[in-house]
Amino acid sequence: MDHDGLFITLEGIEGVGKSTAVETVAQAMREQGREVVLTREPGGTPIGESIRALLLTPESSAMAPAAELLLMFAARAQHLAEFIEPHLVAGRCVVCDRFTDATYAYQGGGRELDESFIAGVEALVHAHLQPDLTLLLDAPVEVGLKRARARGDTDRFEREEVVFFERVRSRYLARAAQFPLRFEVIDATQSLANVARELGRQLHARFT
Ligand SMILES: Nc1ncnc2c1ncn2[C@@H]1O[C@H](COP(=O)(O)OP(=O)(O)O)[C@@H](O)[C@H]1O
Ligand SMILES: [Mg+2]
Repeated sequence: MDHDGLFITLEGIEGVGKSTAVETVAQAMREQGREVVLTREPGGTPIGESIRALLLTPESSAMAPAAELLLMFAARAQHLAEFIEPHLVAGRCVVCDRFTDATYAYQGGGRELDESFIAGVEALVHAHLQPDLTLLLDAPVEVGLKRARARGDTDRFEREEVVFFERVRSRYLARAAQFPLRFEVIDATQSLANVARELGRQLHARFT
């Protein structure tokens, strides 16, 4: 897809600081004179948020992994059509809390779905668009889960076992190794201030 915008995604397991970092990234990009919009997955549109509710409620415990994968991409197709692509075409910087790397990590790594199945659906939904930069916040599973659980109410994913998140984390790191130009891995065990400084440094080095 041809566009003058910038597409930046934040990735990582629960509690590593993605939602916090989205604000930091947005601020840094505004300081570079960019118009910035923030969004998240699954969700980001009214239809997507309905799908998100279905995906995250603990009541969906019987959901089959393939159904989960297709719902993630259904929400994403809507998000791309209604929000992400129009903003990119208008030249804006879109900062998104999770995108397709999360699907490879959670449904591929976590749920152990075949990677070629995921790649097939990815090609249907966004063959011609990838993030310009993916910031992977990485920390040991116990560190992330402890922070996430301190937040309160746990969703269907947050109720998974530590081994599930170990698979998610290692798939994320494998994706970063596979696409070294697109990814930056950030040590999320650092203090919030240091993470913010490193994010600012990365964005400055790449985009100014
Ligand atoms: N580097 C950090 N050091 C200490 N606490 C952090 C750090 N990053 C995030 N937190 C805290 O951990 C919790 C989870 O952060 P959040 O940004 O919601 O993570 P995520 O969106 O990745 O699940 C929040 O309470 C946040 O303030
Ligand atoms: Mg979050």
